[in-house]
Amino acid sequence: MKKSILALSLLASFALAAEINIYSARHYDADTQLYKLFEAKTGIKVNATQAKGGELIKKLEVEGDSSVADLFITADAGNFYTAKKKGVLQSVKSQTLEKIVPAQYRDAEGYWFAISKRARIIAYDKRNFDPSIIKNYQDLTKPELKGKLLIRSATAGYNTSLLASIIESEGVDAASKWAKGTLANLARDPKGGDRDQAKAIFAGEGQVAVMNTYYIGLMLNSPKPEDVEVAKILGVIFPNQDNRGTHVNISGIALTKASKNKENAIKFMEFMVSPEAQKILAGINYEYPVNTAVEPSDTIKAFGKFKEDSTPLYKSVEKISEAVKIFDMAGWK
Ligand SMILES: [Fe+2]
Repeated sequence: MKKSILALSLLASFALAAEINIYSARHYDADTQLYKLFEAKTGIKVNATQAKGGELIKKLEVEGDSSVADLFITADAGNFYTAKKKGVLQSVKSQTLEKIVPAQYRDAEGYWFAISKRARIIAYDKRNFDPSIIKNYQDLTKPELKGKLLIRSATAGYNTSLLASIIESEGVDAASKWAKGTLANLARDPKGGDRDQAKAIFAGEGQVAVMNTYYIGLMLNSPKPEDVEVAKILGVIFPNQDNRGTHVNISGIALTKASKNKENAIKFMEFMVSPEAQKILAGINYEYPVNTAVEPSDTIKAFGKFKEDSTPLYKSVEKISEAVKIFDMAGWK
């Protein structure tokens, strides 16, 4: 008898212990700090599983309704487009999220919301490159840049989402011209992440690279002196300032279809866009806050103000599959 009472009270305490389970593809110190802060503020325990965005989407698909995941966090709007299409997310109605996250940076039906932004800029070697020849993404195809351009693989979401935005704003022909022209100007076959392109500029392998802003921020503030040295020689060009604006991608959050702790999960989503959380994202990870009440870090502010692409991100990601095809046809790896 005693034993069964003990078992019952144990069960009750499990039921009462509020927790949420997050599948996250983000790999930053800022996130661990945010989980802890949320736990301290709410008493809701955060369990996080980490893997790549694509792997987590597959995991959610395979697990179906039995998945323990409540939330899916990843970088790149393209991942959210895929996850929504695969049916592993559910729509969220939240006045807080709708008020804070600008409409262009969230799904029109509430399936995902941005928590931070990063601009896909063009970095150049300040030691020896004249930036005046690059005003738009399309200028990367100029013959003057032959053998000088560095960019990571076309399979990287950051590049497919950029190309999707070119399709959305300039059309298929312009996008395919861009894919072919940039490929023709590469200093080497696409490899490594964005930071590796910066290192290659430093080493003199090329002079111009396509990069996300926060990687430069991270390098400038890195505990490794060699990273700081690399980042210091980089100049930043915000493309398309006289027309559609620079392509901005996001990190975001979504409620999973299988979520069993919906209320607390939505609490976490709202927490992530609160000024307190946004300050951490902006301060440690050098991302642009999605909450306009919060300023970017000084490092990022020093790059200057710029015009963001006015095309809603949820619209341009619909061109993702077309972008993949265009990269394939151009022979990008
Ligand atoms: Fe990244």
